[in-house]
Amino acid sequence: MSGHKKVIVLGGVTGLLGVPLTQALRQAGHEVLPTTRGTLDPFDREAVVAAIRAFAADWIVNTIAYTAVDKAEDEPDEAARLNRVLPGNLARICQETGAGLVHYSTDFVFDGKKTSPYAETDPVDPQSVYGKTKLAGERAILELGLEKHLILRTAWLFGPGKTNFVEKILGFAKTRDVLKVVHDQIGSPTSTVDLSGMTVDLLQAGATGLFHTVNSGRASWCELASEAVSTAGINCEVLPITSAEYPQKAKRPAYSVLDTGRFAAAVGHAPRPWIQALREYVYGLVDEGE
Ligand SMILES: NC(=O)c1ccc[n+]([C@@H]2O[C@H](COP(=O)([O-])OP(=O)(O)OC[C@H]3O[C@@H](n4cnc5c(N)ncnc54)[C@H](OP(=O)(O)O)[C@@H]3O)[C@@H](O)[C@H]2O)c1
Repeated sequence: MSGHKKVIVLGGVTGLLGVPLTQALRQAGHEVLPTTRGTLDPFDREAVVAAIRAFAADWIVNTIAYTAVDKAEDEPDEAARLNRVLPGNLARICQETGAGLVHYSTDFVFDGKKTSPYAETDPVDPQSVYGKTKLAGERAILELGLEKHLILRTAWLFGPGKTNFVEKILGFAKTRDVLKVVHDQIGSPTSTVDLSGMTVDLLQAGATGLFHTVNSGRASWCELASEAVSTAGINCEVLPITSAEYPQKAKRPAYSVLDTGRFAAAVGHAPRPWIQALREYVYGLVDEGE
């Protein structure tokens, strides 16, 4: 995406990712129209086409998803409507209008049986309704053969502005002496601010296709929680437990670290370690609280 572009960000007003993404695109000099369900119904085909034409959008970025992983087990139809039907609809609209489509997917498309980072070429086998519907969303886009598209698989998001795992942990840690957190699920914690920058970098590099976009490094949920609590200077002990000791409705991969080699080759640099990004985020929260 060379030069100044016009980008519609669906979910850009309230989303955990949508808000920093809107900011990052603007900082990079692009013109952005962030939308919310109140200003643009993403399922209203005519309205989305009209918005693309009125704004003369070069790209539409979809951050909307059904992200409640456990609740999705009980609401598979609603999860599929948002995670599969919507990206398919948007891909058709993009094909018709000539706009490009950026869409986000998840590490939960993998079964977690590997012990080394997953590449884009590794076989998928989602274990949850959330993972299955997100994979179906990827396929709905790919199947159309849309020329200008980016599908970015990300994971374990944290960042300012909206509740997330790290914020919840810090809230609990302030009122408890001990926290027990799952230590047998390993993944790629990722900053929404860094993911926004990675998205801008890929667009500016003119990249298309499927990419793994996460911070570098790896952690268990327990390690992520410990690092956040100690960075915030909260006096709370964080102890490891197993998934069996913390049963959850949706099955999660035991290992879902993502390999970002394809991203690095496309933009010319690797993502920074999650620990650096986490520290920036937590110091920001601590400063806000002072
Ligand atoms: N969060 C993670 O840890 C994580 C991990 C892996 C992948 N991802 C992927 O990353 C992307 C961004 O995730 P996120 O955490 O930023 O998502 P989010 O904040 O939970 O939701 C994004 C947006 O979706 C909108 N939305 C939800 N239901 C809607 C509906 N029925 N109609 C219209 N809008 C609706 C929300 O609007 P309202 O505020 O109005 O509800 C919000 O602006 C998603 O594709 C997600 O699957 C996230």
